[in-house]
Amino acid sequence: MQRPKPPRVFVTRQLPGEALARLGAFTTLRVWEQPLPPPREVLLAEAREADGLITLLTDRVDEPLLAEAPHLRVVSNVAVGYDNIDVAACTARRVAVGNTPGVLTETTADFAFALLLGLARRVVEADAYVRAGRWKTWDPSLLLGVDVHGATLGLVGLGAIGAAVARRARGFGMRVLYVNRRAKPELESELGLERVDKATLMAESDFVSLHVALCDETRHWLGREELATMKPGALLVNTARGPVVDQAALEEALASGHLGGAALDVTDPEPLSADSLLSKLPNVLLAPHIASASHSTRGRMASMAVDNLLAALEGRKPPHCVNPELFP
Ligand code: GLV
Repeated sequence: MQRPKPPRVFVTRQLPGEALARLGAFTTLRVWEQPLPPPREVLLAEAREADGLITLLTDRVDEPLLAEAPHLRVVSNVAVGYDNIDVAACTARRVAVGNTPGVLTETTADFAFALLLGLARRVVEADAYVRAGRWKTWDPSLLLGVDVHGATLGLVGLGAIGAAVARRARGFGMRVLYVNRRAKPELESELGLERVDKATLMAESDFVSLHVALCDETRHWLGREELATMKPGALLVNTARGPVVDQAALEEALASGHLGGAALDVTDPEPLSADSLLSKLPNVLLAPHIASASHSTRGRMASMAVDNLLAALEGRKPPHCVNPELFP
């Protein structure tokens, strides 16, 4: 009797850690080895043959791709966010979608706070100043920043990452406001948070940090109007998704001096061009979408993505499934 063929899986990039070696034992594995994402035609060609895909947020999985992928049973994203995937289209075609929540919460919150501190206290500018040989003396007016302790932090979104940032802010003696679809009374009493409306958050926060998923409701959530209502000199931190902010409006608010600065791990588009206005403004701190990038967290994300994929290939509900209704 012929043995059943192992399922065929395409992985859109090499992943850190041992997870892919584990996957190789159960599947016919193809891995895109280049540093840049596979071009669309490569992704389509691979999807045509694949039972499963492991994707990154740079890979678009949409109806045209699904329409050409008759064997596809699972798309496992190595990210907590999945705005690169048309989940409704996947569900309609009974393709399971997995993501990697939880493991990256604390690592991402660490980085959001690193950006907040770095922007407030001008850490990158200070480093460049010393390296350029400009440090001649102790100067009472040199590289003055703003205090973090005692300031007001406005959190947009109080999911797991927002709450982890709130815990850090509490350690810094900050007042913490939040907006969120649902009230979180337990977190309010545990961490002393105040739920406010958008206008109050904008008017009272010295720092605004974004922690919402990208969807129709949150696209350009921070637009020209909202930016105008932010406290003069306030600082923005974005570790969520670039399109949550209207970037042209943000550039204006930064260039005009209304906003004190922005620290952005995510931009719209990504990658951000070195010629963009944001890349040239001195009050902007930039990072290339690395908030979850610690050795251990990226290894755990890869491992979770493999677990999600293998479960779906075996007909089980992935441990972290975005469309669990496929597994009643
Ligand atoms: C990264 O942005 C993620 O969604 O995990």
